[in-house]
This record gives sequence, structure tokens and C-alpha cells, in this order.
Amino acid sequence: MTEDKKILFSGIQPTGNIHIGNYLGALKNWVDLQDKYTAIYSIVDWHALSIDQDPKEYKNRILETAIDLLAIGIDPKKSILFAQSQVTGHTELAWIFNTLMPISELERMTQYKDKAKQNKHNINAGLFNYPVLQAADILLYKAEIVPIGEDQVQHIELANTILRKFNNKYGQYFNPIKPMLTKGARIMSLTKPDKKMSKSLGDNNYISLRDNPDTIKSKVAKAVTDTGPAVADKKSLGVHNLFELLHLFTNNEVVKKYEKQHNDGSIKYSEMKEELAGAIIKTLEPIQKRIKELEKKPKKVEAILKKGANRAQVIANANMEDIRDRIGLLK
Ligand code: AMP
Ligand code: TRP
Repeated sequence: MTEDKKILFSGIQPTGNIHIGNYLGALKNWVDLQDKYTAIYSIVDWHALSIDQDPKEYKNRILETAIDLLAIGIDPKKSILFAQSQVTGHTELAWIFNTLMPISELERMTQYKDKAKQNKHNINAGLFNYPVLQAADILLYKAEIVPIGEDQVQHIELANTILRKFNNKYGQYFNPIKPMLTKGARIMSLTKPDKKMSKSLGDNNYISLRDNPDTIKSKVAKAVTDTGPAVADKKSLGVHNLFELLHLFTNNEVVKKYEKQHNDGSIKYSEMKEELAGAIIKTLEPIQKRIKELEKKPKKVEAILKKGANRAQVIANANMEDIRDRIGLLK
């Protein structure tokens, strides 16, 4: 890792079951970015505590997420991969940032408003301060590039507001953060194609990286298509999504074949779905093979995270020392 590369940071919550939407929309890009940047990837286990987690299951969830990331190609030789709570500094810096952030600005965060609506029984202060911790994640490493999905742009804007406030009060220290919008696809739900694929919509709407071939076939077979006959050049949302998936998992020739059949009205969605399911199964096969291998070696996975945490801690310590000094804290 050369030092002149820009630092890139991103995080993922250990909520389990990474699906092909996460993979194609975000994580595939993480893999590609490893060569160009000093990439720091964190499994944000502090963040995910803002929603209910089963303490008996939590460790497995975190390890499962690590295994999925390693299996898709996050390479610990190239990138720093660790669990957020293994490095001290994230929560300390978040506290400092909390003291700079007016409540009114946090109240405007749409993700907070959405989550508060969904979790009426558990609107905790952690959920409210979530974006402050996210800013700390990034700035603890003075990262300047953050690959994220559209839904996280507001949090990056907030992080830029926080760092400006910090710089104004304590002297210029942080550079602005640039969000890098993933160009990847936006994959829609198989059963509710007007919504994006998401775990929260139920089992049949998403395909997990870990789904077995029969499950994949059955989920694709159940995907909604047209209610009436196919109309040339006019695809329903469900059909459009299936074509998008076909495009991502097969090749031009296959897409063209079904485009033609769609336009002349001869398309049989069952055939197209079978071919699509086969292609998804084939693409996931090597990933699932690596998942199985890594699952046999949980200690190795833990060691990878620990090593990543140690490397991250070195950067975090150096930056926290500067930050504490600027604030006027004792050594
Ligand atoms: P989440 O698990 O919803 O927090 O998402 C993790 C990452 O995957 C974020 O960067 C999202 O923008 C991305 N993502 C989630 N669902 C989809 C989807 N259906 N299509 C494309 N990207 C997605
Ligand atoms: N909030 C992000 C999400 O839900 C996860 C995250 C936490 C993150 N800290 C981050 C993303 C820092 C980018 C940078 O997807």
C-alpha cells in the first residue's frame, strides 16, 4: 500500500444476508476500488446496535458479513477490513462531533425519519446520532472519498457540515469529503418491482448471496412480470427488472434474444426466468464456494479482522492525538 494514494472509506452494517442488490449496487464496486485507493472497509457494528440485535447471534452476524465480503473479493492484502467496534476512536470522535452538531440539523435526516417511523418501539438516541458516528468513521482516517448509494448522500453532506464546524472552531484540519456515487445498478424487488430489492420486504423479494440453486430458481420463477400480454417496447416494472438482471448476469446475445421475443410477443417468461436463474446460480457459485471454505475457518476470519483493526488503529491513534491536542485535552 503506497502512502500517496487517497484514503477511501466505506462501511456496511452487519445485518446479515447480503443480497444481489447490495452486491451489484455497491459491493462489487468496493472490490474494484481496492487497487486505486488506500481502501478502509468497516463492518459497522456500533451503527447496527441502533436497531434491535440478538446478543447471542450478533457475533455470527458480524463474522458472516466479513465472510461475504471476503468471498466477493475484498482482499485483506490490499484493503483494511475490520469491525468498527474493534478500533477505539470511532465513538470518541463521534462524541466530539456530537458537541458541534445542533439537534435541529439531525432532525432533518430522512433516514432517521424513516427508521423512526419503522421502529416506533425503539427510537433511541443512537438512531438519532447515527450520522454523527458515520462522520466520525470517515474522518477518523481523514478519508476523502466515500463510495455510497444515493440514500447516503445526505449523511455525507452532514459530515461535511460537521468537519467545517470543527475546522472553524479548532483550526483547519479535515479536508472535504467527496461521496462517490456507485454507478452500479439499482436492483428492484422481485415481488414489488416499484421498490428497491431489500431484506425488509420479505424473503421472496431478494436473492441472497447464500441462496442455494433451488431457492434461486423458485424466487426467480415467482418474480412478477406482466399482468397482460407483452407489449412491444413497453415493459412493466417487473419485466424491466428481469431484463436488467439478465443484462447483468448474462451477455448481449441472450439479452437481444429475449428483447426480440418481447417485441414480437412470442416471449415465454418461464423460459427467460429459467435462463436467468441459471446465470445467477453460475455467477454465485464461486462466491458460495469461497463462503463455504471460509465458514470452516472462523478463527482465520477473526484473525483477518483483528489484523485489519490493528492497522486501522495505528492511523486512528495518530489522528486522535492531533485532534485531542487541538481541542485542548490532556495527553
Ligand atoms: P443496506 O443494506 O440497505 O444498508 O445497503 C447496503 C448498500 O447496498 C448501500 O450502499 C445501498 O445503497 C446498496 N443497496 C441496497 N439495496 C440495493 C438495491 N436494491 N440495488 C442497488 N443497491 C442497493
Ligand atoms: N450508513 C451506511 C449504510 O447504511 C453505513 C456506514 C456507516 C457508512 N458508516 C459509514 C458508509 C461511513 C460510508 C461511510 O449503508
